[in-house]
Amino acid sequence: MDIARTVSNPDGTPEMADAARTPAEPTVIKREDYRPFGWLIPEIALDFQLGLEKTRVSAKLTVQRNAKADRTDMLRLNGDGLTPLEVVVDGEVVNSWSMDGEDLMVPLVSDSHLVEIVTEIDPSSNTQLMGLYASNGMLCTQCEAEGFRRITFFPDRPDVLSTYRVRMTGPKDQFPVLLSNGNPGASGENDDGTHWAEWHDPWPKPSYLFALVAGDLVANTDTFTTMSGREVTLNIYVREGDLERTGHAMESLKKSMQWDEEVFGREYDLDIFNIVAVSDFNMGAMENKGLNVFNTKYVLADPDTATDGDFDGVEGVIAHEYFHNWSGNRVTCRDWFQLSLKEGFTVLRDQLFSQDMGSEPVKRIEDVRVLRGIQFPEDSGPLAHPIRPDSYREISNFYTATVYNKGAEVIRMMRTMAGEEAFRKGCDLYFERHDGEAATCEDFVKAIEDGAGLDLTQFRRWYSQAGTPQVSVRMEHDGDAVTLHLKQEVPSTPGQPDKQPMPIPLKLALFDKANGSHRGEELVVLDKEEASVTFTDFADKPVLSLNRGFTAPVSIRQEVSGEDLVFLAAHDDDPFARYEAMQELVVTHLKQACAGELDDDARDAGRKAIGDALAAVLADDTLDDLMRGELLILPTQTYLMEQMEAADPGVIHAERQGLRGWLGKQLEADFIALHGRASDMPYSLDAEARGARKVKTQALIYLAEANPALASKMGAGQYDAADNMTDRQGALMVLAGLQTPERTHKLLDYYNRYKDNALVVDKWFAIQAQSLHPHAIEHVKALADHPQFTLKNPNRVRSLYMAFAANPHAFHAADGEGYRMIADLILELDPINPQTAARFVSPFGRWRRIESGRSALMREQLERIAAAGNLSRDTHEQVIRSLG
Ligand code: PHE
Ligand code: ZN
Repeated sequence: MDIARTVSNPDGTPEMADAARTPAEPTVIKREDYRPFGWLIPEIALDFQLGLEKTRVSAKLTVQRNAKADRTDMLRLNGDGLTPLEVVVDGEVVNSWSMDGEDLMVPLVSDSHLVEIVTEIDPSSNTQLMGLYASNGMLCTQCEAEGFRRITFFPDRPDVLSTYRVRMTGPKDQFPVLLSNGNPGASGENDDGTHWAEWHDPWPKPSYLFALVAGDLVANTDTFTTMSGREVTLNIYVREGDLERTGHAMESLKKSMQWDEEVFGREYDLDIFNIVAVSDFNMGAMENKGLNVFNTKYVLADPDTATDGDFDGVEGVIAHEYFHNWSGNRVTCRDWFQLSLKEGFTVLRDQLFSQDMGSEPVKRIEDVRVLRGIQFPEDSGPLAHPIRPDSYREISNFYTATVYNKGAEVIRMMRTMAGEEAFRKGCDLYFERHDGEAATCEDFVKAIEDGAGLDLTQFRRWYSQAGTPQVSVRMEHDGDAVTLHLKQEVPSTPGQPDKQPMPIPLKLALFDKANGSHRGEELVVLDKEEASVTFTDFADKPVLSLNRGFTAPVSIRQEVSGEDLVFLAAHDDDPFARYEAMQELVVTHLKQACAGELDDDARDAGRKAIGDALAAVLADDTLDDLMRGELLILPTQTYLMEQMEAADPGVIHAERQGLRGWLGKQLEADFIALHGRASDMPYSLDAEARGARKVKTQALIYLAEANPALASKMGAGQYDAADNMTDRQGALMVLAGLQTPERTHKLLDYYNRYKDNALVVDKWFAIQAQSLHPHAIEHVKALADHPQFTLKNPNRVRSLYMAFAANPHAFHAADGEGYRMIADLILELDPINPQTAARFVSPFGRWRRIESGRSALMREQLERIAAAGNLSRDTHEQVIRSLG
């Protein structure tokens, strides 16, 4: 199906999703305006008559006055694109209701009522993928954040908690499997070919956690016995042919359940836990109570079709959604400003889990790379916001790296300051105090404060202030005393010109250069704008290793010699700090090179220092290959751009590739040997074999720049010999950047081999959109016309265009062609799927911190989008903020 270019209905009328279009200025919602809802809805019963084109929904709400809220005689039920077909109050059909915009207003005079409402929806035309929608012939729901109001009229806010009874009826051949939240109840068949099923969820929950799935699915079934001895049935539902790729997800689920019991003392609370994989999904996955709905990308994995990274992604996301059962579901959010309460905490929990399952330092390095690559640019751009925002127009725009990843870092800092044991006490207290409630970030901080015995008064600023703090450090050596002068600055961000100092926990060590060791780690909490700490007994000036383990999400400025960085890169006993020294060595050199500060000799000297450090990394047999692979990865272009005020992507790209080529030449023999050694390792999922695959492709990446002809041959060889996707994709990724015949051959072979597997076809699109090939833009344009490209599937859209927008050398083409292409995409996608369209706006935020020519071109595209009429609330908000 190719609907990429022409977005129209069969009858020729323009197709418009019924998202909120922007009439004038959409309402700004403010955190300070929070008021409890006037009514409680302790119970809801939903009856669904299912059909792909027409689903009839009858909702029965028990409604009671909320004594803790202002008195009102009006019940406001949110709707989005709904018409009430029938409104019944206490058994009588009424027509006293009215509409206020999209909301249904029902006047109620007594203290408790039974309100019944009937609506009808068309899941097949729901291209936004919010509410009830059709995907590959099945029906499924997505309700977070405000999708439930597209199914039935309801107070669609997270602080209204109800127990749900669901009954659904549908054609048995079309929908043999009928699922909802909670535990299964009665089911049966009718004479007309339909069947029905009932589900009951005893745990009160907000509407965003509601889910329903109906389809022709098969399950991988297993069981888990909880710590109190209850047996829980586990199902992973997929489409027929996908069953053999669910084993890893099931193992990950069982490990997650076990880990949450052992590390956080949290036990599962229903008889059954269901996961359903769907191929049309806006995000990664969703934690609906007892019925998680997943993007297929985070469920399906086998060695032939999934890389090692994909396996980790499945494990991490399965854990994340499972952990939400406590951090999100049992204790939920009072309002959407508190999103980081569940997301920051749950990301931290899944990170700690993955650290325990695999290599702790490597996982930490990966998480920091994501933070720096995505969250730091967000925090320094026009979309910067605190982890607990103060206002929004469209909440979907606040599912960000700041709320998720910086949110996790903020909680990690509390854990670092408290220590593991005290932190656990704080978490226990939080769950105990707020179980069954809709809580706030403040509730969480208070519980950690009380339970862990910390004073977090000043620390609360991490929740209210945006921007990545800059910490500068200067070392003074006088006699045998060493003094560190520390200084922090929190940059101004939109709406927050002035900042207060925050407590910044920095783990550090001082290395004795002569013996290569230190006297123990110290934790220094910098809580003033400036502070000094002194250490004595240092006859010689030591080498400082700062922010070890990345204890604080800050960026460090320090005058440190290349020599000291080489020392730390070789000797630091904290693997993260070692990685950091290696990165710093490269960043410092490239910054100077890009600023034109280096003559030929100085450039050679800089490259040589990096080359020596890299040679040491290659030769060091105390390193495992997973860690070695991290030390071989050059800082990303995005991270480098972040380090410069008015970055020129063309110059950075040239310098970075130049360095890579130089290193590849210098160490050619070593890289060839490394590739050979790694290729001898047979496939397995253990750390050693995974490490071998990681360094194998790294070696190829260096060689590709130094000796393209050789790398092309070796890449083709790696591709042909591959018995797993990691090797195959690694080889293809390198080949895709080269202008050799092997490139064309292998891209074609890959497509033909995997053309029936959507997730691998996604990779095929992404590999080309991400490539270093000089004609990447033309390739992307051509791929948009490929028969397998469609704007209706978010994974496919992301595989082509997100990959492209994240490819700095292509996206930032000097003539602005990359910008034009993404702006065109936004305008075309917005009417189909506004949530996904809006995500493409953020790359344009860079316009404020890029050289002037590109800056103007980027701004021009933002203005073009802003000028287009009828934008969704999602895209409109992001464009307005970006232009700021
Ligand atoms: N709450 C989901 C998660 O983080 C993410 C999500 C948000 C999914 C909104 C769909 C829609 O686990
Ligand atoms: Zn989450």
